[in-house]
Amino acid sequence: MDFFASPNHSDPKFKSFLEDACGSLCSWISTTHEKGPLPSLFDLPDVQPCLEGLPPEQLLEDIQKLMSGSYHSSHPGALAHLDPPPLTGSIIGELICAGLNNNLLAEELSPSITKLERSLCKWISEELGMPSTSGGVAACGGSLANLMALLVARSNSNSLYNSDAVVLVSEEAHVSIARAVSVMGLPPDSLCKISTDNDGRIDITSLKKRFSEIKTLGKTCIAVVATAGTTIRGAIDPLTEISHFCRVENLWLHVDAAIGGVFALSTSTKKLVSDLSKANSVTVNPQKLLGITKTSSLLLVSNFDDLFKCFSTGFPYIEPSSGLQVQGGEIGLQGTRAAEIIKLWIGLRQLGQNGIQLLLEQAIFRRRYLAEKLDSRKLKVITGPLHLLAVTPLDATSLEADEWSVRTKSRLLESNFLLSRPKYQNRYYLKAVMGNPHTQTSHIDELAETLNQSV
Ligand SMILES: Cc1ncc(COP(=O)(O)O)c(C=O)c1O
Repeated sequence: MDFFASPNHSDPKFKSFLEDACGSLCSWISTTHEKGPLPSLFDLPDVQPCLEGLPPEQLLEDIQKLMSGSYHSSHPGALAHLDPPPLTGSIIGELICAGLNNNLLAEELSPSITKLERSLCKWISEELGMPSTSGGVAACGGSLANLMALLVARSNSNSLYNSDAVVLVSEEAHVSIARAVSVMGLPPDSLCKISTDNDGRIDITSLKKRFSEIKTLGKTCIAVVATAGTTIRGAIDPLTEISHFCRVENLWLHVDAAIGGVFALSTSTKKLVSDLSKANSVTVNPQKLLGITKTSSLLLVSNFDDLFKCFSTGFPYIEPSSGLQVQGGEIGLQGTRAAEIIKLWIGLRQLGQNGIQLLLEQAIFRRRYLAEKLDSRKLKVITGPLHLLAVTPLDATSLEADEWSVRTKSRLLESNFLLSRPKYQNRYYLKAVMGNPHTQTSHIDELAETLNQSV
């Protein structure tokens, strides 16, 4: 059977299959400049298996077809979303993850990687300034990490069966919070939205007022959710004031730092998110900026034991852990879990502290540079301290802004720039995420000129 690599000797067919696949991937990435961020017309390969299995050459042809219809995150004009080009070390990590096929469910299925995940989560939580009791677990994306955080918060608030419990959250929080509240079986009004100031940050007076109304109604608050890096403009909620308020009122503070959390990993940008240290739980998504291949998201908690308290069920079919006591399948919602931590670990090791700092600083620099180049007499720019920025025409009605966004998005695509088109406060914007390391100032000049001329 050629389907599996031989466990007895070096397998030349497997090796050449791997080499050829790597060759295709290298040439797909290296010819990105000949294309735009989005593919042109493409054919899908056949989906169903044939009667007899296909040889490597044909499988690679199929894969080639799929690649030709894929989004090019390495294109310098790919600025629409939080999907940067992949780090080479992280691609290798992904390949090794597949080849090892270990399972984070249990220590005996992933002896070294289970330990690696615990240690790396602990290191990152300590970089965020969380206490020595902290730790965490990897999750398939920020939405899942946010859901798990609210489940842990609820199990701590003793309101597991209380349908009157609420979550206090900014009106600019990511939709995953609303989804989490809904799948937790809480009624729609359990999501208490707090208004934001002109910079898109939670208004602390509104937060306090809302909380006192909730107390008067005799409701329990499961958690206050702050955001460090909102989805449209990268705003950071006032974490110092919010954490102080949560401490005084004895409330769980979850910070959705899916976007902003990685800024804590460099000394020069740490101050932007310094009060993450005071949260009970934090979501961090290295996939969104550092180039760690998807998915790479972590839920970090100030007290690691809280994860087990919330998610443990007992595992009658799994050997108890030898040294770590708690099995990977009992500290989160997922059972079987790929060894995704490898690509985060190896990616961070590849970058080193200087590489991490450079990526973060350059992302902020590109956002600032773009903001400076935009004509403030024509365009309204909304942004924050991170690497996101969104624009809409000044003095336009929402209908005009809508038409402008569609027209300008397609004009930009003709010049190979892909921006996204979010709706924010009832009008459309074009959003640029400036985390792509291939985007040079010359590209930004061209982008700004097209935007300035669009109004
Ligand atoms: C602030 C924030 N939190 C959470 C998420 C959800 O992350 P994911 O897409 O990995 O589920 C996003 C996605 O963009 C986000 O912007």
